[in-house]
Amino acid sequence: MWKGRLAIVAILAVSLLAALSMFTVRGASDDQLEVYSWWTGPGEEEGLAAMAKSFEAANPGVRFVNAAVSGGAGSNAKAILASRLLANDPPDSYQRHAGLELLDDVRSGKVKDLNDLYRQQGWAKVFPKGLVDNLTIENKIYAVPVNIHRANLLWYSPKALKELGIAAPPKTWAEFLQQAEVIKAKGKTPLAVGPEWSQKHLMETVLLGQLGPDKYEDLFAGGLSWLAPDVADALNMYAKVLAESDVKSAAGDWQPQLDKVFSGSAVYTVMGDWSSSYLEQSKKLQFRTDYDVVASPGSNGVYDFLSDSFTLPTGARRPDLARKWLIECGSPDGQNLFNPLKGSIPARTDADAALYKGYLEWALQQWRDPKTRIVGSLTHGVVANNAYNAEIDSALGLFVQHGDEGKFAQTVERQFRETQ
Ligand code: GAL
Repeated sequence: MWKGRLAIVAILAVSLLAALSMFTVRGASDDQLEVYSWWTGPGEEEGLAAMAKSFEAANPGVRFVNAAVSGGAGSNAKAILASRLLANDPPDSYQRHAGLELLDDVRSGKVKDLNDLYRQQGWAKVFPKGLVDNLTIENKIYAVPVNIHRANLLWYSPKALKELGIAAPPKTWAEFLQQAEVIKAKGKTPLAVGPEWSQKHLMETVLLGQLGPDKYEDLFAGGLSWLAPDVADALNMYAKVLAESDVKSAAGDWQPQLDKVFSGSAVYTVMGDWSSSYLEQSKKLQFRTDYDVVASPGSNGVYDFLSDSFTLPTGARRPDLARKWLIECGSPDGQNLFNPLKGSIPARTDADAALYKGYLEWALQQWRDPKTRIVGSLTHGVVANNAYNAEIDSALGLFVQHGDEGKFAQTVERQFRETQ
C-alpha cells in the first residue's frame, strides 16, 4: 500500500518537475529541441549525451533539451508522457519501443508517419526488415530505431559460481531450481528481482524458456490460449522460480537488482543487456572475468529483442528540428556514438562491428547469426499493445502476491480478447 502511495508521490513530483522544466523550455529561445526518454542511468545517459552533442554540432545554434524522466523500462516516463500527449503538449520527439507499443499513438493520431524521411534516407535498406515491420502500421512507418536490445539474459559472477562449486549457469529452469538448493544452503539468494516490470520481464523469459519460441509467439498472437496445459506448466514454473527469488524485498530498479548479484548476496538475475553498460562503465567490471551472461534458461539460440525508437509527435513545436534529430538517430554516426555507451547493438545492418567490444561483440554475432531465432519482448513493447500489457501488469501484481496462476491465466486470457 505504502509502496503504491510512494509511487504516486514520485509520479506527482516528477510531473511537477517536468511541468517546471517545460515552462523553462517554453520560455526560452525557440532554437531548441526537446527530446523525451527514460535514460538517466550510467551508460544510457552518456549514450544520449553523445548523440545530443553530435546533433548540436550538426545544427549550430540549436540547443538539445534532455527531458528524460528516470525509472527503468519507462515506468515513470510513460505515465507522464501520456498526460502530456493528452494535453496536446508533446515534446519534439519521444522514445517508444518498436512493436505494438506504438499502436495507441498511431490510432489516436499522436505521431506522424515518417515514410518520406525513410525514403529520403534510404532507411528501408539499412534496417532489418523484421524491425521495419514492427515500426509499420497500415503501410506507414512511425518511428526511427536507434538500437537493438536483448531481454532473455541471465547475469552472474563467474567467481561466485566457482566458490559455490557450480560448474556452469543453468541451461533450463528445472536445473535452476536444483542449483537454487545448493545456493540457499550457502546462505545466498538464488535470484535477484526488481520492481513490477522486472518481475514481468522474468515471467516473459520463463515463458520463453518453457514454451519455446513458436509457442511463445503464438501465445501473444492469440493462437495459444493462456489456459492451455503447457502454459499452465510454464506459469507454475514461474511461480517456483519466483519463490527462489528475493521478491519480498525486491530491488527498487534494475541497477540495484544487479548490485545484489555483484555484491554477492544473490547469485543470478534476469535482465536486458542494458546491464552490460552499467556493469562495465559504472561498476568497472570486465566481461567474462568479473561478470558473465548467458541466454536465460531454455532460450539458447533465441534473441528476445526490443528496440528503442524515436517518434515525430503531432503538434511538436519544432518538427523541422525533430526530423533532424531523427536523422541523427538513424545515421551510422549517431548509432555508433550511442550504442557502445548504451550497451546495445546498432539497429543499422551496416554499422561498424569493430566498435562493439566485449559483451556487445557477442551480442552482435548472435543477432547477425542466421541461425538465431528472433522473437519480440512483452515487457518492452513488441508483442502486446498497451491496454493488454496494462491488464497483464495488474493481474501479475496479484499473481506475485497470492501465487494463483490459474486465476492469472483466466484473467489474461479474457483480457487478450477484450483489448485487441
Ligand atoms: C527498456 C529500454 C532500455 C532500457 C531499459 C531499462 O525498456 O528499452 O533502453 O532503458 O528499459 O530502463
